Amino acid sequence: PEPPVEDAVPQAGSPGLVLLGRIGVVDPASLDDYRANGGYQALRRAFELGPVGVIREVTEAGLVGRGGAAFPTGRKWDATARQPDQPHYLVCNADESEPGTFKDRVLMEGDPYALVEAMTIAAYATGCRKGYLYIRGEYPRATRALETAIETARARGLLGPRVLGHDFAFDIELRRGAGAYICGEETAIFNSIEGYRGEPRTKPPFPVEKGLFGKPTVVNNVETLVNVLPILLTGGSDTKLFCVSGSVGRPGVYELPLGTPLRELIDLARPAGTLKAVLLGGAAGSFVTDLDVPLSFEGTRAAGATLGSGVVMVLDEEVDLPAFLVRIAAFFRDESCGQCVPCRVGTVRQEEALHRLGRRRSEADLVLLREVGQTMRDASICGLGQTAWNAVESAIDRLGAFK
Ligand code: NAI
Ligand code: SF4
Repeated sequence: PEPPVEDAVPQAGSPGLVLLGRIGVVDPASLDDYRANGGYQALRRAFELGPVGVIREVTEAGLVGRGGAAFPTGRKWDATARQPDQPHYLVCNADESEPGTFKDRVLMEGDPYALVEAMTIAAYATGCRKGYLYIRGEYPRATRALETAIETARARGLLGPRVLGHDFAFDIELRRGAGAYICGEETAIFNSIEGYRGEPRTKPPFPVEKGLFGKPTVVNNVETLVNVLPILLTGGSDTKLFCVSGSVGRPGVYELPLGTPLRELIDLARPAGTLKAVLLGGAAGSFVTDLDVPLSFEGTRAAGATLGSGVVMVLDEEVDLPAFLVRIAAFFRDESCGQCVPCRVGTVRQEEALHRLGRRRSEADLVLLREVGQTMRDASICGLGQTAWNAVESAIDRLGAFK
């Protein structure tokens, strides 16, 4: 039997949780349970506010994307809502694949109706009648939970031709990925849904203008959407989900106010061993050693790192850093879609150089790594190639790797 989802949430059931508030408290399969715990009140409020009012509240709350890039959600919604071209589409990016990221999984497994309700609100605000929920193929339990939630919501008039009896039609189609990391890139999702190879498209045009099937499309991450519920009910939560893993006694998903010092989060997770560094933002992120860095988008940026999707991977002194870096490089080499040369060739060269450096220090290989890394960052089509050298660069510059 699978362990209960709340096992991945050390704070489960604690007062003050907003995004994780229902995890371990409600039966994820029960719509009645969801409604008894505040469910579908935000959608009622959305109908009172009207689409423009909803976008205004989301904009004023300052919500930014939680998938990793922190783009203002209100701006994205407003830009889509204004497009004259029809139809508009909503895509929920649930292809959570950044190494060390598992927050969306917990939300979907433990509180699936919240996502269905939030998608309905996003669609109402931006004029979409059809939403696609693109879910990671390796998330069977989340897929089952959402299948149940979507079917039940449809049967109970919360999806379909007249949502909650209003003159608003909306439905959700679930699509499963097939194991490719690149299919979490928003335009690769479009290709995948349309039946093509999951390869990113060049941007601009941005999806808000030309997205799925060439039509205006809103793409939001799971956690971003779920944030809309407290925004409509109480003005917002100003919290963020963090995925803590590595050398800690209590790994899992934590919800803390944005700006909390990294040290506080790591203390909650009970560090084990002597801390060497923390990888923030996952394989696409950077190492930091300063535990006073505030966990906010601006705070991590000022520290030369990124909050990304909320990965906090704790490394102790026992970690074999060169081997760790080779593993990251192998991941990017494996997951590159191969469409553009800087990334297709660069990820291979990076991994080779790291293998050699692991055996013997070489100034020439360090120079090569930097050249290859900069080329990937400057000339790759999408975020995969652009970030494939981040962690390696920060390990060399901040942790003295290969000294
Ligand atoms: P991006 O910065 O290109 O775009 C962010 C969002 O803003 C996109 O939806 C884009 O369409 C929109 N946008 C940007 N400029 C716009 C404009 N002028 N008008 C309208 N919309 C605009 O970043 P990208 O490539 O979408 O995401 C990169 C991030 O994804 C990285 O920070 C990384 O941390 C994260 N990531 C997360 C993963 C996960 O599993 N959660 C996996 C891999 C990467
Ligand atoms: Fe594909 Fe890499 Fe180019 Fe992105 S950067 S389009 S993953 S080859």
